Amino acid sequence: MTLALIVLAAGKGTRMNSDLPKVLHPVAGAPMLVHALRAATTLEPDRICVVTGHGADAVEAAALEHDPEIQTARQTEQLGTAHAVAQARTALEGHDGDAIVLYGDTPFIRPETLERMIAARKEYDLVVLGFDAADPGRYGRLVMQGNALDRIVEFKDATDKERAITLCNSGVIAADSDTLFDLISAVGNENASGDYYLTDIIAIARAKGLTATAITCDEAETLGVNSRAELAAAEALFQTAMRQAAFEDGVGFYAPDSVYFSFDTVLGRDALIEQNVVFGPGVTVESGAHIRAFSHLEGCHVARGAVVGPYARLRPGAELAEDARVGNFVEIKNAFLDTGAKVNHLTYIGDADLGAGCNVGAGSVTCNYDGVRKHRTSIGAGAFVGSGTMLVAPVTVGAEAMTGSGSVITQDVPDGALALGRAVQVVKPGLARRLMALFKSSKENNQKEAI
Ligand code: UD1
Ligand code: MG
Repeated sequence: MTLALIVLAAGKGTRMNSDLPKVLHPVAGAPMLVHALRAATTLEPDRICVVTGHGADAVEAAALEHDPEIQTARQTEQLGTAHAVAQARTALEGHDGDAIVLYGDTPFIRPETLERMIAARKEYDLVVLGFDAADPGRYGRLVMQGNALDRIVEFKDATDKERAITLCNSGVIAADSDTLFDLISAVGNENASGDYYLTDIIAIARAKGLTATAITCDEAETLGVNSRAELAAAEALFQTAMRQAAFEDGVGFYAPDSVYFSFDTVLGRDALIEQNVVFGPGVTVESGAHIRAFSHLEGCHVARGAVVGPYARLRPGAELAEDARVGNFVEIKNAFLDTGAKVNHLTYIGDADLGAGCNVGAGSVTCNYDGVRKHRTSIGAGAFVGSGTMLVAPVTVGAEAMTGSGSVITQDVPDGALALGRAVQVVKPGLARRLMALFKSSKENNQKEAI
């Protein structure tokens, strides 16, 4: 069966009180919209259309960054959810199969739930995703007749009896695409909001002799985000789920609640993560690697047996091979550390290749940026970079070469060579004591004059 997805993302999100369109607010490092798209794309849809309105340029850019094949449709006036779906009609032209309507601000719907909806479509023309709400609030209510869904009534339009229903509408609907658009063209706006309600298509379908049902999922899955508080709650829920999945995958933690995950964090079995570690997007930590306390990682790969931190920063493009060591107050960016390479203290390594078993001394810096361009540094296998070496890139330190502490290395160092790039030391016997005495007496004289 071919499937199309229509993701509604035109709403303003007034209650977020933000310049950023609501669906672009991040949960675990990815915009809510991307969460919604990720879950849905596991179903391998043939087409995806994101309906945009408020902040359309930014929302469209985020959608296309996630998947360049996504189609977008603009809803210039937000006249309601049915009107929003209608905007996707052109994008879905010629699509022969089902369409599922999702919301960009409902990031946690699981693919399994959407699959259950698709399965239910074998028996029913329309399938709505509902949930039993602890506090039904202002959600639309599902009016059931046995297993059949009779209609959906919006809170504003509901009677007291209908408001007592706790089975609520998540907003997700599955139907044959042509049927969906036919039904939508029959929706009017004579209701309490003056909006075109997508929810009205159930009653319209029933009147035409079509069938509808609701399947249900956990309320946490249909959590919609409308405010900063709800965004924070969504984040907490997501972090809990990531943590739980990591436990099940055999990841070790000292203080799991203090570890921050991104939506795509991958941690191997027996990886050990200490306290207060932050994983930005794009991190893979392999089995048995050890991330020590207060480290910040993003866009990087840490192989087995490697040790990072405490207080280390791995930025995008940091690639640590097995048993590499990155110690405290070290920043690594766009650099490869081969097996067993060590960078243990107070060092910046950017745009560099470090050979197996090399050792970079404390306080060394790859001077990779000339103000305009970035240049690479290469350090050979087994090389020893003395403490406080400035490596002015582009530059190569050969295999098993050494640099003297405090050197400024501007020229390549051949394999096995020692390079010293610093002023020659001069020693003046006794001068320190004499100078100090001079300084003290001149200070005393100054103080006497002041009195
Ligand atoms: C909607 C449902 C309600 C359901 C609730 C679940 C309708 C009429 N009501 O109400 O039954 O319980 O969601 O959260 O469908 N959007 C557009 N264009 C528009 C209007 C909305 O793109 O013109 C988008 C919004 O960006 C949002 C989604 O559609 O992603 C839902 O809109 P919202 O205004 O939040 O609907 P609710 O009033 O919450
Ligand atoms: Mg809403």
